[in-house]
Amino acid sequence: MISNKNIILGVCGSIAAYKSAILVRVLIKAGANVKVILTPEACNFITPLTLATLSKNPVYTQYFEPETGVWSNHVELGLWADYMIIAPASANTIGKMANGLCDNLLTAVYLSAKCPVYFAPAMDLDMWKHESTQNNIQQLQNFGNTIINPNNGELASGLYGAGRMAEPEQIVVFINHHIQESLPLFGKKILITAGPTYEAIDPVRFIGNHSSGKMGFAIASEMVKLGAEVTLISGPTSEQTTKNIKRIDVVSAAEMLSLCNQYFEQSDIIIMSAAVADYTPIEVAEQKIKKKQEDFSIALKKTVDILANLGQKKKDHQLLIGFALETDNEEANAIEKLNRKNLDLIVLNSLNDEGAGFKKETNKITIFNKDLLKHSFETKSKTEVAKDICNEILKLV
Ligand code: CTP
Repeated sequence: MISNKNIILGVCGSIAAYKSAILVRVLIKAGANVKVILTPEACNFITPLTLATLSKNPVYTQYFEPETGVWSNHVELGLWADYMIIAPASANTIGKMANGLCDNLLTAVYLSAKCPVYFAPAMDLDMWKHESTQNNIQQLQNFGNTIINPNNGELASGLYGAGRMAEPEQIVVFINHHIQESLPLFGKKILITAGPTYEAIDPVRFIGNHSSGKMGFAIASEMVKLGAEVTLISGPTSEQTTKNIKRIDVVSAAEMLSLCNQYFEQSDIIIMSAAVADYTPIEVAEQKIKKKQEDFSIALKKTVDILANLGQKKKDHQLLIGFALETDNEEANAIEKLNRKNLDLIVLNSLNDEGAGFKKETNKITIFNKDLLKHSFETKSKTEVAKDICNEILKLV
């Protein structure tokens, strides 16, 4: 969830500041871009050099460098951040944050930031228990900030109880879960088909098509970003799956049908973007067919229309989305398929549009919903098209 995200880590004056070095490492390992701001007191516990080296970014400690007069722009820093984490958050800084005080760079950036803010308190047992601390923490939560609760354990004072800052790994796991839970498709299971199918003629030959699978793979990536649990059933393709997608490779239409049937019932949203073969050889030759005859024909039978088949079984809570690739009478054909296959949405692309079609990096789509409301989009990259399709689906969730 935090991969490629910009994170400001604010570190306050607390013995737990030593853990911020490990926290930076864990965040960087998770793929985040990290900038660290230390309060003046934090510099007594950990050096800026340590955190600058680990974060691969300059560390900010004050509004301006006294020697050079270089100004650290708190508004820019606040706007740069996708997330702000204050760990350790001392009782003093929590109090300032709760009351709008900004006598150092960290608290000024906090006031300027528009992103979600997490804070991991660290303090002695009695400071933690004090009514004023608890009131301030409540106030921060009222502002929409999220607390990462301290652990119980031995404290620097020698006392035992609540107040130990959560461990760096715990903090990152907590934030990952928290972000995921707030995504619009959290808890939704999505089934996507992509790519072509290959129908074997003999051990070396097959009937296939030009589908690259790019569109389905792009939709799968977008769905993961929206928090969904994605299963991608893909025909033969050279496309690579991004993280957190359960990918199952198949070859033939029959295999794709069998896996779709297996995953259908547990799926909330089903998106069939695969270019499934409509016909398959009645018999597959066991040995390679020799070129003895002048003319040669192969007897074919229809494959099962997976989409239509799932449309018949669809329950009220499920959304079924199909594709239509057309060369003529595009809109009429798409609407006919939407109705016949009992779909919630159909995504039409026409081979007559320049930016649409097989193996291209772009696509041009029109989406119809059940009420036949039409939404046409410009030619866009397949990633952008995937976002448009996901947005249309989100309207129905
Ligand atoms: N589809 C499917 N199983 C098939 C054939 C198609 O699930 N055996 C799905 C595709 O994944 C797509 C939609 O049906 O979502 C439309 O496929 P398309 O080939 O355009 O339509 P068909 O219904 O096969 O009609 P035709 O080939 O006659 O245009």
